[in-house]
Amino acid sequence: MYTIAGKPVDELVREYGTPLYVYDENAMRQRLGDYRELFQDDEMETEVVYASKAFSCLAMVRLAAEYGFGLDVVSGGELYTAEKAGFDMSRVYFHGNNKTLAELQQAVKARVGTIIVDNVMEAEALVALMQDADYRVKTLLRINPGIEAHTHHYIVTAHVDSKFGIAMTDEAEVVQTIRLLQACPNIEFAGLDAHIGSQIFDRNAFAELVRKLFAFAVRLQQEYGIRVHTLDLGGGFAARYTEKDAPIPLPEVCRCILDTCREENRQAGGLIRKVIIEPGRSIVAEAGYMLYTVGFMKTTPNRHYIFVDGGMSDNIRPALYQAEYDALIAGREEDTPAMTYTVAGKCCESGDVLIDAIKLPKTEPGDILVMKTTGAYGYAMASRYNKLPVPGVVFVRDGQAREVIARETYEDLISHEK
Ligand code: LLP
Repeated sequence: MYTIAGKPVDELVREYGTPLYVYDENAMRQRLGDYRELFQDDEMETEVVYASKAFSCLAMVRLAAEYGFGLDVVSGGELYTAEKAGFDMSRVYFHGNNKTLAELQQAVKARVGTIIVDNVMEAEALVALMQDADYRVKTLLRINPGIEAHTHHYIVTAHVDSKFGIAMTDEAEVVQTIRLLQACPNIEFAGLDAHIGSQIFDRNAFAELVRKLFAFAVRLQQEYGIRVHTLDLGGGFAARYTEKDAPIPLPEVCRCILDTCREENRQAGGLIRKVIIEPGRSIVAEAGYMLYTVGFMKTTPNRHYIFVDGGMSDNIRPALYQAEYDALIAGREEDTPAMTYTVAGKCCESGDVLIDAIKLPKTEPGDILVMKTTGAYGYAMASRYNKLPVPGVVFVRDGQAREVIARETYEDLISHEK
């Protein structure tokens, strides 16, 4: 039988039912440990910050804490989860282009360490809020470096219309915002933040980002006397979803970033003290599995459909991004593929197709379909479309399973209704 972290899948199904989000905790620990070890430098301080948007829950936040990570949150909800998990607030990085006043107040009350300021209006709101705060908050300014990288390509053209950050080309606005922040005694302006995209395969994109940020930091210093000492490079490191994907191995991506930083920093006379990265997907994606039970099946002139007991409600990524996944039938993973199937969910929408075409052994109702690499932006983006309860989440470590999020019940579904 197919196992996840030493636990047979049929046992997981017996104990927790389907659909079910399962995480190989050993794999996540390995990955967290790798990042911690690899993203270190003798000349600059480094920090790895887990982007909790990829998968946020108490257990995951605690795991990130155990490995000495910082935490990226983008909403009051993610911040609340971090607080309840007992995460060190000074290691929290609060992102977002439209933090509400209530969220900013919540952050200040919790004494969040760093706020990533996204635009001028946010800077004004934060200054007003920090006037009579009883601590000093660090800030980074999110800038848009004019590099866009998603999946296999990156382009260096100013995408000036992004909703995130201030365009690097809009120097006047960058300077105005930094000056606003610097004028407030309770705000420390630490440096610049950028995030150029997600599921990036091209190492040149990161090197290019580093070079652009350093050049900009030097320029701010020389032209305006603005001192930048921290650079946050964001996340975006790719995961392997299918055999077509060849992510840059972690040691290489870390080395490329740190080597480029060191080189640039030497030229910049040691201007930068600290470099931060914010991986999300690359920590949790490959550790995640989705277990479904095969229900009805049908054949149309062009397709052999397998219907599963979940779908776009637990994983919107195929419908939203045409994301591709690999899957297997538990217990038959060694069998020769019988035919090409289409795996479709149970939601009332034709677009609810999880895998458009996959070769699988002969499949029957009642089989367990294991979809792989579902750990990032799956649970995080789940919905209750068609009033399907959100499935539970189980972590497996050394053959032992523990439920970290209980499956929703029908009662839960109407618990807020009046
Ligand atoms: N830092 C910032 C500021 C971000 O906006 C993001 C992701 C990350 C870090 C983490 O990026 P990662 O290492 O996970 O690629 N829902 C989409 C992905 C959206 C990513 C949004 N920002 C998906 O399912 O592919």
